[in-house]
Amino acid sequence: MPSSCPNYVRSYVNAARNFLSFLLLACVIFLLASQSAERVQSRPSGAGALDQKNDFNAALKRVNKNSVVPPGLEASLPRFPALKRWAKFERPYGAALSRAALHDAASGAAPGSVAGPGAAQSSVVGPSVNQGGIADSSLGSKVEALLRKMTLDEKVGQLVQYSAGQPTGPGTGRTDYKDMIGKGQIGSLFNISKARDANAFQRIAVEQSRLHVPLLFGLDVIHGFRTEFPIPLGLASTWNPVLVEKAARVAAREASATGIRWTFSPMVDIARDARWGRMAEGAGEDPFLGSAMAAAYVRGYQGSRLDAPDSIAACAKHYVGYGAAEGGRDYNTTEISEPTLHQIYLPPFRSAVNAGTASIMSGFNALNGIPTSANAFTLKQILRKEWGFQGIVDSDWTSVAELIPHGIANDGATAARRAFLAGVDMDMVSSLYHDHLEHLVQTRQVPEAAVDEAVRNVLRVKFALGLFEHPYVDETKEDAAMLRPDYLQIARDAAEQSFVLLKNSAGPGGVPLLPVSKSVGKVALIGPLANDSANMLGCWGALGRAEDVTSFQTALLAYLGNENVLSSKGTGISEGSDQEMGDAIATAQKSDLVILALGENAPEMTGEAASRSKLGLPGRQQELLEKVLATGKPVVLVLFSGRPLTLPWAFENVPAVLAAWFPGLEAGPALVRTLFGESNPSGKLVVSWPRSVGQEPLYYNALNTGRPANQANGDPKFVSRYLDEQNSPQFPFGYGLSYTSFRYGPTEIGGKQLKASALNTGLHGGKDTAFTVTASVTNTGQRSGDEVVQLYIRLQGTRVAQPVRALKGFERVTLAPGETKNVHFTLSPDAFAIWNDHNQLAVEPARVTVWVSPDSAHGSPTELEIVP
Ligand code: NOJ
Repeated sequence: MPSSCPNYVRSYVNAARNFLSFLLLACVIFLLASQSAERVQSRPSGAGALDQKNDFNAALKRVNKNSVVPPGLEASLPRFPALKRWAKFERPYGAALSRAALHDAASGAAPGSVAGPGAAQSSVVGPSVNQGGIADSSLGSKVEALLRKMTLDEKVGQLVQYSAGQPTGPGTGRTDYKDMIGKGQIGSLFNISKARDANAFQRIAVEQSRLHVPLLFGLDVIHGFRTEFPIPLGLASTWNPVLVEKAARVAAREASATGIRWTFSPMVDIARDARWGRMAEGAGEDPFLGSAMAAAYVRGYQGSRLDAPDSIAACAKHYVGYGAAEGGRDYNTTEISEPTLHQIYLPPFRSAVNAGTASIMSGFNALNGIPTSANAFTLKQILRKEWGFQGIVDSDWTSVAELIPHGIANDGATAARRAFLAGVDMDMVSSLYHDHLEHLVQTRQVPEAAVDEAVRNVLRVKFALGLFEHPYVDETKEDAAMLRPDYLQIARDAAEQSFVLLKNSAGPGGVPLLPVSKSVGKVALIGPLANDSANMLGCWGALGRAEDVTSFQTALLAYLGNENVLSSKGTGISEGSDQEMGDAIATAQKSDLVILALGENAPEMTGEAASRSKLGLPGRQQELLEKVLATGKPVVLVLFSGRPLTLPWAFENVPAVLAAWFPGLEAGPALVRTLFGESNPSGKLVVSWPRSVGQEPLYYNALNTGRPANQANGDPKFVSRYLDEQNSPQFPFGYGLSYTSFRYGPTEIGGKQLKASALNTGLHGGKDTAFTVTASVTNTGQRSGDEVVQLYIRLQGTRVAQPVRALKGFERVTLAPGETKNVHFTLSPDAFAIWNDHNQLAVEPARVTVWVSPDSAHGSPTELEIVP
């Protein structure tokens, strides 16, 4: 600038120059920060990190002044990615729905769901529950009107939940519930099991608390309430979502008659490792089948209207990835890549959300370093923003407090703040929201607007359930609501369809040992589970009672007559004496056929906190099996377990083996009808059955590796294999025998070429491209039977490697002897979509192999191509 310039001009020019530099610097910071914010958003683990504490809190104060996010604030917060995300999450959900989510919500389709078998099983993934459910538009004004009247203490109260009955986790010591309810400091109680108790607590909430907000009573109604059905692994083995929906409906009717309006079910965790005891509680290893089952449970529990007095709110749990616990050890850490999270672990939750689940339970596990009960990426970004979920996010039992041992909080207040800001609405048992949330709001560490949002989620469910209109349950009707004969019939059907016939080779005379003729002579029923009722109730028996169970022995005596049944325990499940063993051998020797009832102890060895590192028969049962077989008598082995057991010797030597899981109240009649041929087994495995523990985790939808063991003409040494074990399972996913036989015709497809561009348009809500696959299935045997026909595909040539097979459809068909049916599947674009390397769901050009087959290891393939 020339020195002759007047001073005032100089100072204007300097000021303008400083202003421009400042503007430039601000733009650079803005751009860098927005990019980093976007990067953080796309990472599962990093997204939840709210650790830029000072920046965050300072920015938070600005937000909190207004209580709600002012328009445009999001753009003014580039330096605070966490807050920027938070601001976004507070928007109306509809506006935040991704195109894919809108498409799914509109079509009612689950990710990866197909219209083929779905068309046959239209109840599998039906339309979202938009009326009479949590998305009902009439709820908003009621919720807001109540919210406006609430003090902060009352709002926090809605987010607090305690167990008031038989504990289902470590105790907390708190018992002053009545006093707290009167003050409006509790929103939900669970583990209550009598209508009388529910009403007594409810009376305090409704008559004594200032705003009369009813309590929501919850319970783990997992596979039945009083009428116990097979464990969920067994229910899934039916491959019959309609039947599962019926079972869930029965459970809802019984539970609601006791005042329970919320079940912590379904557990939709994918389980790939049989060491994990909770495999028993879910639908196994496959996301497609898991999605179908998730929706079936939700629809069964919630019925056509959530406010019907016999409907209960579902809770899909444990969000997310809990089943991937390292080493199969319960509560352990999980590391899951983003494609695997999206393609394997999230779909069943998405399906539950699409079916209208009123709640989701956050998990115990750390997911890629961030505990799932403090993971904003999974809870806010995916669940709320992308899926538009409007119900309650409940923590798991003390999972808020467990943020301290996880190592992401050093005190209760921080644990509460982290869990809450990440999206956990309700604190189950740990009491940290009660202890700290109010103070966190007063000190502006948590915005009151966020508390309001969480309270809205809770009130929305309470209004949707009709609790304000009908807070009490009619105690006089409680008993009559249980164990109705039609419920027992459903329990029996479910048990029969859940059994998986694993082996049925020739007995004496060269014919398969099963089914057994009624005139077989003397049958010896041996084993610790032969006359056991309690174990038949599985790991989550709810209100099931052993005295309501018809045990295997009772049913066999009734069927064959006392004179034809010999019985002996042989050994206990975990221990036994030489004397018992000797008696059993002597009993076997007097018989014409031995049925051995062996397996696990359901409550101790399966379910929560029941991981095992050895998967053989516990105690002396293997010894009993070998000694009984050595008598030379024909032996049928019935296995009771919550997971596949590694029994290579048995599968080699025992002629007939039936996996019965834990079948519920109708265990005995269902087993007898099946073994004696009045019912034909049709269950199929929903988990790969390992040969040995060292193969775990074992799942059919694995990646091929660069050196697959089965490579034709490949080098036999430098391949992906074990030196001392086969790679293949003992029995593959989808496997199960019948008393009849089925022949599959070739897999026929509706064309040889598809266009990725058209499929992508269809995927994102444009015109759908349907693709048909057909195969004929013929019953070639002498008896009528059900076959679960399965459709698998493989994609090769995509940028992210895809599984060697992935289930994309199934259908259960009934065929008379000699009958043939053409089974049609219609695949929609999502069947071909993958989670790609840009973190998007999209269809890519690929070579596609398609099988219609009886399981995941067989079938004749046919090919097509997806071109750009
Ligand atoms: C802990 C379990 O993980 C969960 O599945 C269950 O619902 C709660 N306890 C409540 O009992």
